[in-house]
Amino acid sequence: AEGDPEAGEKVFRKCKACHQVGEGAKNRVGPALNGIVGAKVGQAEDFRYSKAFEEKAAEGMVWDDEALAAYLANPRDYIPGNKMSFAGLRKDDDIADVIAYLGTFE
Ligand code: HEM
Repeated sequence: AEGDPEAGEKVFRKCKACHQVGEGAKNRVGPALNGIVGAKVGQAEDFRYSKAFEEKAAEGMVWDDEALAAYLANPRDYIPGNKMSFAGLRKDDDIADVIAYLGTFE
């Protein structure tokens, strides 16, 4: 289902401890997320990714909606060894909504 970006802005509160998005977004614990929907994995400038992420980047993995949904549902299982310390989002709606929200930032 199509996500709701306004609802996704609320979901993104869970991500803000580590991620910034929007004008002037910087890398923090996690990389800045502008333009992430449709981007190649691990391309934030000057962010030090895990080896697991570097391998995915080398394979040419792309963050399409499906990959984002799978990662956000269970980060540890989807990319073993990655360093995002986040349990994941339980609700499919929350996942779709936060992806829609991220999609509003180029
Ligand atoms: C990576 C989204 C919560 C820390 C990523 C990436 C995405 C993402 C899309 C891949 C970025 C890329 O390829 O450049 C989200 C969303 C969250 C969330 C939507 C909330 C629902 C968090 C939290 C933390 C965190 C709470 C910190 C406790 C990281 C780190 C990475 C990462 C460190 C890099 C992983 C690595 O290099 O292995 N996140 N994240 N994230 N995130 Fe999150």
